[in-house]
Amino acid sequence: MAYEDFVKQADDLQNILFNLNKTEIHLHLEGLVSPDTIWELIQKNNLHYDGITTKEDIVCKFNIKNLEQFLDLYINIIQSSFKSEADLALLFKDMGSYLQENHIVYAEVFFAPSKFLKMGLDYGLMMDILTEGAKIIQETYHAEIKFLVDVSRTFGLENAMSNLDLVLAHRVPPVIGIGLGGSEQNGPAKDFVTVFDKARAEGLHTVAHAGEDMGPESVWDTVNYLHAERIGHGISSVLDEKLMDYLAEKRIPLEVCPTSNLFTQAYASVIEDHPVKKLFDKHVNVTINSDDPSLFSTSLMNEYMLLFKHQIFTKEELLLLVERNIDAAFLPEEKKKKLKEENRIITS
Ligand code: HPA
Ligand code: ZN
Repeated sequence: MAYEDFVKQADDLQNILFNLNKTEIHLHLEGLVSPDTIWELIQKNNLHYDGITTKEDIVCKFNIKNLEQFLDLYINIIQSSFKSEADLALLFKDMGSYLQENHIVYAEVFFAPSKFLKMGLDYGLMMDILTEGAKIIQETYHAEIKFLVDVSRTFGLENAMSNLDLVLAHRVPPVIGIGLGGSEQNGPAKDFVTVFDKARAEGLHTVAHAGEDMGPESVWDTVNYLHAERIGHGISSVLDEKLMDYLAEKRIPLEVCPTSNLFTQAYASVIEDHPVKKLFDKHVNVTINSDDPSLFSTSLMNEYMLLFKHQIFTKEELLLLVERNIDAAFLPEEKKKKLKEENRIITS
């Protein structure tokens, strides 16, 4: 196909994709923070970080080479800049703009309280801010958000259990479940069985990062021991045929975040080598997400267009993937049906 025709096809697809009802199901609240907001916090709270003297330095700092480096900056720069519960309210303008710019109508957003609690912030007050934030997102930006509290694998079982106990002691309608993020190498899934069992018994949804920074055995442990409903990333599953068959048969969604994986470089350093297409071809239920859009200078729309422009997925496959994101969300079936029906009017 002539180059001009491909560019025209990409433009047409971008328009269609933008107009579709989209959901994003793997998105970290603090990873949405704009450099403007972090810079505002740095100045307001009189903070000093090595190598950050201008706003531009913030994004440059995130030119990381692995997950451990990323998590270090995430905890010690991004999260550390929020010095009060009220500071978290600043995130919702960034979130609203992000959702609007991508026409995302529903998002499930991770909130990781561990570092904030260690800094002395109050969980109940943080929940008040998040609840108010969800209201603002609905009223001002016409999108619905729910939260998954990332109990974290970085700080051990006791910390994760104590986070779950806080979730249960302060139940608020926007919080619908828990997630397990952080250092996959230092916090094996098996360690958190009691946390996941208790969360499930209390009626919470459960999801977990796995196979982002560790091999297929980490994904196996997450499905066998944690019984997570969805897997965050899960891309190392591509190395295990049996696992791919199992995930496909059970229809367990993988929340794939291509650009994020290119930054952390565990299983792909260039988009052409990313396992997402092979997983898709093996009938694994992949969904597409952005993870930490501000920190990785990406967005949900950017992820779809990246996959199209590098000819990893066709237009038809991408339209199917938009539906997969809707189906994998923790939304009532009738709501999913409505979103998909509206989309079919646009694509037909
Ligand atoms: N993996 C683990 N923990 C995280 C991530 C991630 O991709 N993003 C924010 N916290
Ligand atoms: Zn993530």
